[in-house]
Amino acid sequence: MLANNAVQFHDYEPELAEFGEEVINGLNQIPRTIPPKFFYDQTGSEIFDAICETDEYYVTRTEINILETYQEDIAKHIGPGCLLIEPGSGSSQKVRILLDALKPHTYLPMDISRDYLKLAAQDVANEYPWLDVQAACIDYTVPIDLPANLPGNAPNSRKIAFFPGSSIGNFEPGQARTFLHNIANMVQPGGGLLIGVDLKKNPDLLHAAYNDANGSTAAFNLNLLTRINRELNGNFDVNAFSHHAFYNEKKGRIEMHLVSEQTQNIKIDNQEFQFTAGEHIHTESSYKYHIEEFQQLARQAGFKPVKVWTDKDHLFSVHFLEATDKNLAP
Ligand code: AVJ
Repeated sequence: MLANNAVQFHDYEPELAEFGEEVINGLNQIPRTIPPKFFYDQTGSEIFDAICETDEYYVTRTEINILETYQEDIAKHIGPGCLLIEPGSGSSQKVRILLDALKPHTYLPMDISRDYLKLAAQDVANEYPWLDVQAACIDYTVPIDLPANLPGNAPNSRKIAFFPGSSIGNFEPGQARTFLHNIANMVQPGGGLLIGVDLKKNPDLLHAAYNDANGSTAAFNLNLLTRINRELNGNFDVNAFSHHAFYNEKKGRIEMHLVSEQTQNIKIDNQEFQFTAGEHIHTESSYKYHIEEFQQLARQAGFKPVKVWTDKDHLFSVHFLEATDKNLAP
């Protein structure tokens, strides 16, 4: 079928994260660690969608509600005709809430999954025939050089990054500062960032959100072992590990772990790992920020906080930040 609003595709051929290498290295660390980016194989992405539907996981529906409620005010702060860049765009669901009010000139989703990105970007182009859609296959955790030949990239087109979902929470605070600094450089002085950040709150609510009664979060965590078994020739007994998630108040983060229920030896390909009973694999940190705390981090990264929107229960925040001309070091 011939699309009348075709997507211009920019391929950076990012080096795919070495799943095997990172798992082996992580399991040899003390404490053992596996980075959370590996949760999202096909099954993991589906389980994550199920988490977002649970009563306990307030994050997704609260952010969507904030974006829907304040879309006009958000659009007023950004102004029409921008170049809207979304690192880690996935299915581009949340940006749809903003497009009609925001009227950007160009939408540039960026993702590491090439095929998925192509389909998702073309869907947006079909649904919004007036919108220039370009897509870049890119690993957004490294500094991003924008494609040089973007029509929306004229000197007076405002560059705005969109980073919803509190994905920033997966970074250690120092890494988060570096990431924000890279974004500030990408959008240049006068450009901006619209970012969703989960707030600190009653630990009981946080605990429930990462220990849902349906067991979706547990399945999400344990799926990592199933993925290792399948893709890396591992022999984890998934029933001999359990999901453990709690709020670490001192560090201001949710931690997720997989706990070995017994003494056991695991093999991945031909490497052996010995687990004692009760030993943990740290699989995710999800940092939570007070509003002022996040604004301070943003300032250190070269942004000026302009406006923040929250829900009435103060569960979640959406910040609009402007890049300043002070190019502060990361
Ligand atoms: C996608 C990183 C924002 O930390 O809340 C949800 C991932 N992990 N439940 C989060 C997640 C367990 C999520 N982020």
